[in-house]
Amino acid sequence: MTIKEIFDTMDYGPAPESAADAFAWLVDQGSRFGHFINGDFTTPGKGFESKNPATGEVLAELSQATKKDVDAAVKAARTAQGPWAAMGGSGRATYLYAIARLMQKHSRLFAVLETLDNGKPIRESRDIDIPLVQRHFYHHAGHAQLMDEEMSGREALGVCGQIIPWNFPLLMLAWKVAPALAMGNTVVLKPAEYTSLTALLFADICRQAGLPKGVVNIVTGDGAVGEMIVNADVDKIAFTGSTDVGRKIREATAGTGKALTLELGGKSPYIVFDDADLDSAIEGLVDAIWFNQGQVCCAGSRLLVQESVSERFHKKLRARMKTLRLGDPLDKCIDVGAVVDPVQHAEITRLVATAKNCTVHQSKVNMPAKGCFFPPTLIEGLSPADPLMQEEIFGPVLVTTTFRTPSEAVELANNTRYGLAATLWTENVNLALDIAPKLVAGVVWVNGTNMFDAAAPFGGVRESGFGREGGVEGLMAYTRPKGETKALTPIAAFEGAEAATAPAGIDRTAKMYIGGKQARPDSGYSKPVYGPKGNLLGHVGTGSRKDVRNAVEAAHAAKGWSKTTGHLRAQILYYMAENLAARAGEFAARIDAMTGKGEGTAEVEASLQRLFSAAAWADKYDGLAHGVPIRGVALGMKEPVGTIGVLCADEAPLLGLISAMAPVIAMGNRVILAASQAFPLAATDLYQVLETSDLPAGVVNILTGAHKDLGDTMAKHLNLDAVWSFSSTDLSQLIEVASAGNLKRTWVNNGQATDWARDHSKRFLQAATEVKTVWIPYGE
Ligand code: NAI
Repeated sequence: MTIKEIFDTMDYGPAPESAADAFAWLVDQGSRFGHFINGDFTTPGKGFESKNPATGEVLAELSQATKKDVDAAVKAARTAQGPWAAMGGSGRATYLYAIARLMQKHSRLFAVLETLDNGKPIRESRDIDIPLVQRHFYHHAGHAQLMDEEMSGREALGVCGQIIPWNFPLLMLAWKVAPALAMGNTVVLKPAEYTSLTALLFADICRQAGLPKGVVNIVTGDGAVGEMIVNADVDKIAFTGSTDVGRKIREATAGTGKALTLELGGKSPYIVFDDADLDSAIEGLVDAIWFNQGQVCCAGSRLLVQESVSERFHKKLRARMKTLRLGDPLDKCIDVGAVVDPVQHAEITRLVATAKNCTVHQSKVNMPAKGCFFPPTLIEGLSPADPLMQEEIFGPVLVTTTFRTPSEAVELANNTRYGLAATLWTENVNLALDIAPKLVAGVVWVNGTNMFDAAAPFGGVRESGFGREGGVEGLMAYTRPKGETKALTPIAAFEGAEAATAPAGIDRTAKMYIGGKQARPDSGYSKPVYGPKGNLLGHVGTGSRKDVRNAVEAAHAAKGWSKTTGHLRAQILYYMAENLAARAGEFAARIDAMTGKGEGTAEVEASLQRLFSAAAWADKYDGLAHGVPIRGVALGMKEPVGTIGVLCADEAPLLGLISAMAPVIAMGNRVILAASQAFPLAATDLYQVLETSDLPAGVVNILTGAHKDLGDTMAKHLNLDAVWSFSSTDLSQLIEVASAGNLKRTWVNNGQATDWARDHSKRFLQAATEVKTVWIPYGE
C-alpha cells in the first residue's frame, strides 16, 4: 500500500468521550432540579425538560421559576451584598480563586455536561469553553485583589440580574458572574432554558467553595423568568442574547436607574485580502463560522473575498467543507456537532430555504440521520442587500461576496446594522492597521478569529449592544463612582411681562448654531428669556425636529474631526479657553443676569478649567495593550462614540454645557447641545467663541428650545449614536425608551443632581469613548 493509498482510505475510528460521570452527577441530583437560592437548592417545582439535542434524550427536569422564586433570589442577593462588598477585595479574591480551582478540578465533568446539554463538540467544550471559564475566574480573582487599590473611587452597583443565552452556557455565566463578584456585587442569574445544567453544576461548586449564601443565586426558566428579573429590585441587568430581546430590556429598564449592558447579535464580516495566506484564512474561516455550529454572536458569517483570489479561495473552501465531520458531539474527532434545539434547527432551515438566485453548497459528511444536525452551508451569489446577507442566521451558514479594493471592503463590511466583530486576513501589516480602525466593530481580529480572553474587552457597537465584558472596561460596567447622590430640582425659567423691553436698538433674538453657521429656528418661533426680576434679557429660537435633523446632518458632515489627532484637538480646546477667558467678565455678567445667583464669575472660571482639563486629556486618554495568552497582543483602542446629543444642565448654564462639550470633542466626537432650557443665553453667546477658535463647522452644534421635544427627537434619531440628559426636568425614561430603536448609548441623570463644581472629566471621557479590541498575533 502506498502512502497515498493509506491517506486516501484512512478514516477516523470512533473516539467517544465517556458521559458516565456526567450522568452519575445528574442521577445524584435526582435528575430534577430546583433553583439555587441563598446557598441551597429549592424543592423542584413545575417545569420543563432539558434535552440532549444530538439524541433527543431527556437529561433532566428543570423548574420554571415563579415570581416568588425570583423575589426570594433577589432578596437573598440583597441581604448578602453588603457583607460581600464589605469583605474587601482580597477576601473576595479567595473565593473566586477557590471557584477557579474547583472548576479546574472538575473540568472534564463540566465539558461533558456542556456537550450533552448544548450539542457542541467535546473538543470545543474541553479545549475552549471550559479553559476560558477557568481563566475568567482566575483573572477576576486578581481584579478583586486589586480593586481596593486600583478602583478606589468606585464601588459595587449592588444586586445584578444576569440573563444569558445557550450558545456558550458556562462561558457566558463566567463572563457575567466573575466580574460582578470581584467588584462586590451579588447576582441572580438565569441560564437559557435549553442549557441550564452547567449553571446548576456551577451552583454546586459555589457550595463546595463555601461561597457565602446569597452571593450567587440561579433561577431557571424561560423568557418570562428573564422578564421577572428585569423588573425585579435589582441594580443592574446584564444581558446576552438576541437584539429583539435586548431592545425590550432597554425599554423595560428605561428610567429606572438600573445599569444595563447588552451583548447582542451580529453579522460579522470576514475579510480576505488578495495577499493573505489563503490556507490559514480557510482554517480561520472554519473557526469563524463552523465553530459551535455557527451559533456564535461574533461568528464570521459574512465572507468578503478580494476578487482577484476569490475563485481560488472559494475552491479551497468548498474542498475544506467536504472534510468537516458532523456527528456525535461526544466524539473527539467531530468538527461540527448538533444545534441547540429543534426550534433553532427549524429557524435555520427556514432562513436557508429563502435563498433565491444564488448557489447553496452543503457538506453532509457523516451527517447523522437523526438529531438536530444542520450541515455546514455556503451561500454564494447573494446581493449585499439580501436579507440573508444582513440578518443573523445563528447557524453553520456562511454567505459570501467579493470586493475589489480595500475601501470597498470597508464599505461592504460596515454595511450592516450590527457592529460586533470583524476579521481580516492580509500579510501586509500596513493594510491590516489601516483597515482595523475603519471597521465599525467592537472587536477586530487580524489573521485569526474568535479569540477571547478575560483581559480583553468584548462587546459591540450599533445594534450589537453596549457595554464591555472583560478587561478593565468590564469592571467599570459592574461599578459606579462613590459619592452621595442628591435629588434633582427642576428649574423653571423666570417669567416676565410680555411688555418688558430689552435695551433699545439691540436685536436680542439669538439664533441657533448649526454647521458652523447661525441659523434661524425652522419653527419660526422664538421665546423671551427673562431675568429673576421679570426683566427681558433677549429671545431664543424654539428648536424643533427639523433643527435636530439639520444639526445631526451637520455633525455627520464633520466626520473628519474623528480622524484629527488628539494634539490638534487639544490646541483648539486651549484656543477656545483663551477666547472665553478674554470675555470672562461678559459671560459672568450674563450668567448673573439670567440666574440672579451671583455665581457667574466662579462658573466661568470652572468652565475654563474644564476646557483646560479636556485639552490636557485629548492626547492622553489612551487605550491599553492587553497581555493575552497568545503570541501577540490585544490592543484596547479608544474610539469616539460618534455623534452625541446632550441636553445640558439647566442649573449651570455655561459650566454644564462646557463640562459635556469639552471632553466629548476632545475625544473626537461631534456634538449637538441643547442649551439650558431655563437659562439659554450663555450658550448662544458662545457661538462667537467657537467661531474664533478654529473649530471646524459641524463639530459643535447648539440648539435652544424645550428639552423634552429636542430630547425625544434626538433619542429617536437613527443617526445619533448617544444621547445624554442632564436636564433638570427628569427625562430619563423618555430618552431611554425612545433610544431603543437603534440601541443608542444613553447617559441620563435619573432624577439625580450633578455637582458641576466638581470636575467629572474622567466620567465624560469614558462615556465619550468606546473601546475597540484589535487582536494582532505575531511571531512564529
Ligand atoms: P433570546 O434572546 O430569546 O434568549 C436569550 C436569553 O434571554 C434566554 O435566557 C432567554 O430565556 C431570555 N429571554 C427571552 N426573552 C426574554 C425577555 N423578554 N426578557 C428577559 N429575558 C428574556 O434568544 P433565543 O430566542 O434563544 O434565540 C433567538 C435568536 O437570538 C438566535 O437565533 C440568535 O440570532 C440570537 N441569539 C444571540 C445570542 C448572542 O450571543 N448574541 C445568543 C442567543 C441567541
